[in-house]
Amino acid sequence: MVRPQFQSVGAIQKFTRHGNTVDFHCQHGLVRIAVLTDNIVRVRATQRTDFGADVSYAVAKTKWAKVKTTVRSGKAITIATKKLRVIINKTPLRIEFARADGTILNGDERARGMGWEGTKCRSYRRLAADEMFFGCGEKTSPLNKRGSKTTFWNTDDPGHTYATEAIYVSIPFLISTRPGTHYGIFWDNTHRTQFNLGQVADEKHYILESDSGEIDYYFFAADSVREVVRDYSELTGRMWMPPRWALGFQQCRWSYMSAAEIMDVARNFRKRKIPCDVIYCDIDYMDGYRVFTWNPRTFPKPRKMISDLGKMGFKLVTIIDPGVKNDSKYAVCRDGRQKGMFLKKPEGGWFTGNVWPGECVFPDFTNPKVRQWWGPWHKELLDVGVAGIWNDMNEPAVWNHPGDTMPLDIPHDYDGQPTTHARAHNVYGFNMARACHEALRELRPKQRPFVITRAAYAGIQRYSMVWTGDNQSLWEQFALSIPECLNLSLSGVPFCGPDVGGFGGNCTGELLARWTQAGAFFPFFRNHTALHTRRQEPWAFGKKVEDVCRRYIRLRYQLLPYFYNLFHEASVNATPIMRPLFWEFPDDPNSYAVDDQFLLGASLLVAPILKLGARQRGVYLPAGGDWYDYWTKQKYDGGQYVTALATLDTLPLFVRAGSIIPMIKPMEFIGRKSIGEITLDIYPGKKTTGYLYEDDGESFNYERGLYSLTHFAWTNGKLQVNKRRTVYKSAARRYRVQVNND
Ligand code: GLC
Repeated sequence: MVRPQFQSVGAIQKFTRHGNTVDFHCQHGLVRIAVLTDNIVRVRATQRTDFGADVSYAVAKTKWAKVKTTVRSGKAITIATKKLRVIINKTPLRIEFARADGTILNGDERARGMGWEGTKCRSYRRLAADEMFFGCGEKTSPLNKRGSKTTFWNTDDPGHTYATEAIYVSIPFLISTRPGTHYGIFWDNTHRTQFNLGQVADEKHYILESDSGEIDYYFFAADSVREVVRDYSELTGRMWMPPRWALGFQQCRWSYMSAAEIMDVARNFRKRKIPCDVIYCDIDYMDGYRVFTWNPRTFPKPRKMISDLGKMGFKLVTIIDPGVKNDSKYAVCRDGRQKGMFLKKPEGGWFTGNVWPGECVFPDFTNPKVRQWWGPWHKELLDVGVAGIWNDMNEPAVWNHPGDTMPLDIPHDYDGQPTTHARAHNVYGFNMARACHEALRELRPKQRPFVITRAAYAGIQRYSMVWTGDNQSLWEQFALSIPECLNLSLSGVPFCGPDVGGFGGNCTGELLARWTQAGAFFPFFRNHTALHTRRQEPWAFGKKVEDVCRRYIRLRYQLLPYFYNLFHEASVNATPIMRPLFWEFPDDPNSYAVDDQFLLGASLLVAPILKLGARQRGVYLPAGGDWYDYWTKQKYDGGQYVTALATLDTLPLFVRAGSIIPMIKPMEFIGRKSIGEITLDIYPGKKTTGYLYEDDGESFNYERGLYSLTHFAWTNGKLQVNKRRTVYKSAARRYRVQVNND
């Protein structure tokens, strides 16, 4: 077989302009450049004579205000806006992106540019010597992706390590930054995709490539990484405010085997005064793993169980998998088969594959009719009081087929653009979560849905939060959860977190203590572990570890108002809740390399102990601020490493000078109580400010403006309170001031 050669698009033969879109007819394909805003440009290319239908699951915004654009043709063609110039070389077509002042941001590699190799589409792009890469969604490699090769193909890999190229989530969104130059590229192709981000130090190009389909990417020119993330999330959408209880501590295990066991776990939390809001039912609550059923023997009265839990302040979340047991006596299967809701083989007949229930059929979630059919099945769960839904195994994991997923030739609807699994794979889980989200909104319009997913594609934040799937109870896995969640947070998904304590393997007391300390500062805070592993509840390793866990889970609850502010910020402009140091300190070159610490919002610097036996660690305090040790209140200058002492009950934690952190008294669960008193924890700096966002914590009324926003300033020993918005009436009434001077 002759290996196909790479074929670049070739020379421009003619070009035509329609408003802000310019089409270039080239020797070997058609290229379309569309200006969306002053700094966002979309590039499409096909080797066919015309483009396919314009469908994208990721893109939320398709209507853009008109932007003033000029197109000039000379030696090259230049498309210019107020902020950006796209310079298109004619022979052959090569695209370059520059700022209005002429500074080049990025462009096609001169020799190859973009084109095709057989069905593959590819873009060779120039790589600057000091360019760093971030984003790329859920990836287990180090924070900076420079030098890595990464694959976007949703994969159930519980054995993943730092070297793993593909895991559960695919977000082919790249953030590039180097001093003074920032841009982003969202490569919107749902086929298996690879980013090859330089291999050797002096590499001059990097490569973006997909197995098939059109080249379709968005270029975000920006003045900062913040702007790249903001603009990417304008295109792909932003998360909504989750119900406030979802910010609380959550406890899971595969599985709590009966209602009695669940109640026992719940009682233990209350007896031991460890705050907790959510308990999970993993797969064993079902009758033979049939989704939307309960095991009549072990969970005979789910409504009663949930109501008893509710009285103790707990919510219950249940798992739902996509595989429907292929059993003609089972209603979901029978109904779905009758209505043609499941995927079929190319030659006809249901496609079947094995997952937990044995042989299963699989809904085609890329079909809107199937999503509408799937949604109402959640009603029975909601009717008995289930508070949220956990979507799992939706890569989809299918065990008895090569690659542990379905064959690539299985036909899918793809919202009316029939295709095969090769194109639908990466959006299968996305569309399952979407069906679930839409059902919850319809069934409970007054309540914010709580949806968790394992698999996802770009734009998932509109439908679900993401937990990072099956990790291991290993220190290395704890460490990698930091860059993993930071990059996911930079990729439009601020609400994320790992299984605290680790899923596979046996946790130890010290690991649980350290992971719970750090987990308290992740947006999603859930302890979960696998079947046959040691117990992993906060009390499972004796009093000393239990005390540490209690202390930090309590601290999480005390910080709730601060967390809630951050969720609000994330819902407004996708600002990450947990942030890499460079987000706040872009002028400090050292801040780009730190991936064993993170910021929670702008004010808290978290430096987890990531090693067995360690009782101290070096902490980098970024330059551009002064810092207080949270525990000793000692003040430090930024721009240095300090040694933080950390007995087992101490998590190195620093507060940026100039912060006002709103806190509350610890509570056992979040519930619906309004908060009477807020403590303002003040860390004086040159300018000392803070704020408080409040709403009802459960409805969508905040979208209609029913929220309150109060700004605080601490000047010359006095607190100034500026009530910017007071529409949410049950807002805090009293503030208690606590000033920390070193
Ligand atoms: C998958 C999930 C895990 C769950 C298990 C059983 O491995 O990732 O969280 O406990 O299935 O449902």
